[in-house]
Amino acid sequence: MTSYIDADAAATRTNAIKLHGPDGFAGMRKAGRLAADILDAIAPHMAPGVETQAIDDMIRAHMLREGAVPATLGYRGYTHSSCISINHVVCHGIPSERTLKDGDIVNVDVTPLLDGWHGDTSRMYLIGDVGVKARRLVDVTYEAMMLGIEQAKPGNRLGDIAHAIQSFAEKHRYGVVRDFCGHGVGRLFHDAPEVVHAGRPGTGPELKPGMFFTIEPMINIGRPDCKVLEDGWTAVTRDRSLSAQFEHSIGITETGCEIFTKSPTGLDKPPYF
Ligand code: MF3
Ligand code: CO
Ligand code: CO
Repeated sequence: MTSYIDADAAATRTNAIKLHGPDGFAGMRKAGRLAADILDAIAPHMAPGVETQAIDDMIRAHMLREGAVPATLGYRGYTHSSCISINHVVCHGIPSERTLKDGDIVNVDVTPLLDGWHGDTSRMYLIGDVGVKARRLVDVTYEAMMLGIEQAKPGNRLGDIAHAIQSFAEKHRYGVVRDFCGHGVGRLFHDAPEVVHAGRPGTGPELKPGMFFTIEPMINIGRPDCKVLEDGWTAVTRDRSLSAQFEHSIGITETGCEIFTKSPTGLDKPPYF
């Protein structure tokens, strides 16, 4: 009989939520650590005048050097090694010749695939002098993600995570994006369950040790509504208000959760210097 813990060997996408064992935790620890190292390494380069494509090149080189491949490269036709989302771009910003500018707030999202495991994480970067409203959005978004992660423990439900994020963001009169969500992660980049960032407590699947998923709230100063540009990827706020996002990959343990993508040097949120 096949145990549920072995189910990830085949790595097929089903609606069942996989329960991973010690090998999964070990694999995610390595992939998550590499993802965090990469976000640490680009921090000094996130400065005015730098092309986002140059950042993407650095990210790809770092992954290849460490024996990983960018999971986004060739993913549904995507041709870059990261997503770089500036200001009113909610997510899936495409690296380009666009240079970073004083006052920009920028999300960089990376997913190295290392030894069969995906470490998916993103952080915000502040470019030069950033206005107080934008900085507050970034702070609240980080705090919202961490409040969600605090709810990630056995016996709680996915709705408890969603509610923690939504209630905190809305208390600050921000809009929580509904069009994109977190996801199961592991041998697959995007697996069950869908991890929504707005919802009611006590609803949704119950959390169990061995579940791996991302928490990656996107929060807007204005309305939650998004639209995708002609390029088929770039998601922007409909009202062009600023948007921020952080993402961690986590695993549910007996007592709470392990964050696989924490910065080893404490650069989890800006300012980084
Ligand atoms: N890393 C993103 C996530 O958090 C997915 C990016 S898919 C891409 O799920 F193709 F746009 F890169
Ligand atoms: Co993700
Ligand atoms: Co991501």
